[in-house]
Amino acid sequence: MTRMALLLPVLLVFRAVAALNVQVPDHPVVALFGQDATLNCSFGPTGPFNLSDLSVFWQLTDTKRSVHSFWEGRDQLTEQAEGFVNRTSLFPTQLHSGNASLLLRDVRIADDGAFTCFVRVKTYSSAALVLQVAAPYTKPHVTVSPDSNLRPGDEVFLTCVAYGGFPQAQVLWQDGGGRNLTDNVTTSQVANEEGLFSVLSILMVEAEPNSTYSCRLRNPVLGEEAHTSVTITGPSSGFPLVALWVTVGLAVCLLALLIALAVVCHKKIKESCKEANAAEEGKELEEDESKTAMTQLKDTATS
Ligand SMILES: *[C@@H]1O[C@H](CO)[C@@H](O)[C@H](O)[C@H]1NC(C)=O
Ligand SMILES: *[C@@H]1O[C@H](CO)[C@@H](O)[C@H](O)[C@H]1NC(C)=O
Ligand SMILES: *[C@@H]1O[C@H](CO)[C@@H](O)[C@H](O)[C@H]1NC(C)=O
Ligand SMILES: *[C@@H]1O[C@H](CO)[C@@H](O)[C@H](O)[C@H]1NC(C)=O
Ligand SMILES: *[C@@H]1O[C@H](CO)[C@@H](O)[C@H](O)[C@H]1NC(C)=O
Ligand SMILES: *[C@@H]1O[C@H](CO)[C@@H](O)[C@H](O)[C@H]1NC(C)=O
Ligand SMILES: *[C@@H]1O[C@H](CO)[C@@H](O)[C@H](O)[C@H]1NC(C)=O
Repeated sequence: MTRMALLLPVLLVFRAVAALNVQVPDHPVVALFGQDATLNCSFGPTGPFNLSDLSVFWQLTDTKRSVHSFWEGRDQLTEQAEGFVNRTSLFPTQLHSGNASLLLRDVRIADDGAFTCFVRVKTYSSAALVLQVAAPYTKPHVTVSPDSNLRPGDEVFLTCVAYGGFPQAQVLWQDGGGRNLTDNVTTSQVANEEGLFSVLSILMVEAEPNSTYSCRLRNPVLGEEAHTSVTITGPSSGFPLVALWVTVGLAVCLLALLIALAVVCHKKIKESCKEANAAEEGKELEEDESKTAMTQLKDTATS
């Protein structure tokens, strides 16, 4: 309000000297990757004017490369920078009413930056706006490695990935209590050939049963935030209860079987030992008897 009140006299002064006032948004214009964007530029005041007396130049502010040009009542695109071919147009029916806005189709990452709108009708002026390109990230996906047979104190790596965003994401790891984890975090963001980033963030923790971690990803331009949580199940509960009981059952059966087998074997061995002993004794007896018989024979012979 106060700003308008301050501007109004200034505008009136300019009207008096018939200078051109070119206006563009003073906040960055956010455009979604792959979609169309309108770069607003309005000019005035002008009395009724002939279109052939109007010139409009859209340029990249930094390099002065031509984005779109219009003079002598039509588009002049021979000097247009390569990256903008077939992607730009003015709104021809709106030019009379002081609207020199540019329609930019299929916005690319390379379009991110400042654009200057230059207008001339008798006098001239220009203004620059900032185009901020944005692309939303996919929902983060978290994997745990190793994901089984964890014992307390084991090193666990939590990997969070998200794709296809712009600009670079703000990545934040939190524990179950919502505390920020910044130690032992490694994050990298790599752009593909289109300029869209992939995020890879790895958190290293020591395994604790039943602990939850979440990977939070924020696109600073879109303000969008997404998160994914994982819970590291405790070592004991990580082992399915059914499997545990089956294992215990099997072990008990096996033990019983072994004991039974041992008892049977012991008995068998004892029995076979007795038999063997009996047989031996029998043989010895026979031998002794024959010996005595022979000595008796000898005795009778000598006597
Ligand atoms: C462009 O101008 C129109 C009309 O003044 C307005 O409704 C629209 O929000 C503007 N767009 C941007 C991106 O500033
Ligand atoms: C210019 O005209 C286009 C098409 O009608 C419109 O979308 C845009 O908002 C206009 N811009 C201004 C600043 O009036
Ligand atoms: C616009 O230009 C044409 C031809 O150049 C001329 O006949 C006409 O009077 C001009 N109109 C204005 C409003 O200057
Ligand atoms: C622009 O469009 C024309 C006609 O549709 C086409 O022949 C030309 O290859 C296009 N150029 C680019 C750079 O896309
Ligand atoms: C965690 O970090 C974020 C971003 O850096 C911050 O906004 C927030 O206040 C922090 N929270 C805590 C509990 O430290
Ligand atoms: C980070 O890792 C080191 C070495 O593995 C470990 O001693 C430390 O406790 C870890 N910090 C946190 C906050 O987990
Ligand atoms: C794990 O956490 C859940 C929910 O926080 C709780 O109900 C459960 O009792 C916990 N289990 C263990 C073994 O701590």
